[in-house]
Amino acid sequence: MKKIIIMISGRGSNMLAIARNVQTGILKNICEIQAVFSNNPDAAGLQKASEFGLPTYVIASRGKKRKTYNSLLLDWLKSQNPDYIVLAGYMKILSSEIIREFPRRIVNIHPADTAQHQGLHGYDWAWENKLKETKITVHFVDEGLDTGEIIGQKTVDLKTAESLEEVEERGLKVEHQFYSECLKKIFTAKSGKAQRLNYK
Ligand code: GRF
Repeated sequence: MKKIIIMISGRGSNMLAIARNVQTGILKNICEIQAVFSNNPDAAGLQKASEFGLPTYVIASRGKKRKTYNSLLLDWLKSQNPDYIVLAGYMKILSSEIIREFPRRIVNIHPADTAQHQGLHGYDWAWENKLKETKITVHFVDEGLDTGEIIGQKTVDLKTAESLEEVEERGLKVEHQFYSECLKKIFTAKSGKAQRLNYK
């Protein structure tokens, strides 16, 4: 059973989807959520995590120097000793020290093909460029911005989508299912190395 920390900064819909899959879905008996962490004390996802019965932990990043925040975060993560760290809408960039402490053990979900679009606003990018489809990407986190090894990608059909809200709604529906599928693949990989998943 893998122990995971989920890190969020906002709404927490992916966190909740994972929590549901841990309780009764495809992640049952595969992993347990040690805690939900946020750098933002006002993140709506914290309330959702508490209501779900998950322990939460906050280190407010606002008002702290980046170095101070990251060093407190590293100390806390080490004290938790998780098998994996799962980023789910965590909006800060992790320090090199944290990434080096957990090599191939930090996973992120990105709402676009990381080869085509990095950073924020992946759905806005797809909508503004009138893409017929976009790709949700789950990847390991390295020291670059959305440059880590890809674990899996899943296509979202955007044909006939009539607004940015619709693009986001279709994308999130895929995210909520696909993230747990990729996590299952990683957590159950025999060699410790998850082979790339190419869901279409
Ligand atoms: C998702 O679109 C995810 O791909 C991106 O940030 C968003 C987080 O949404 N990294 P939520 O907080 O999980 O609802």
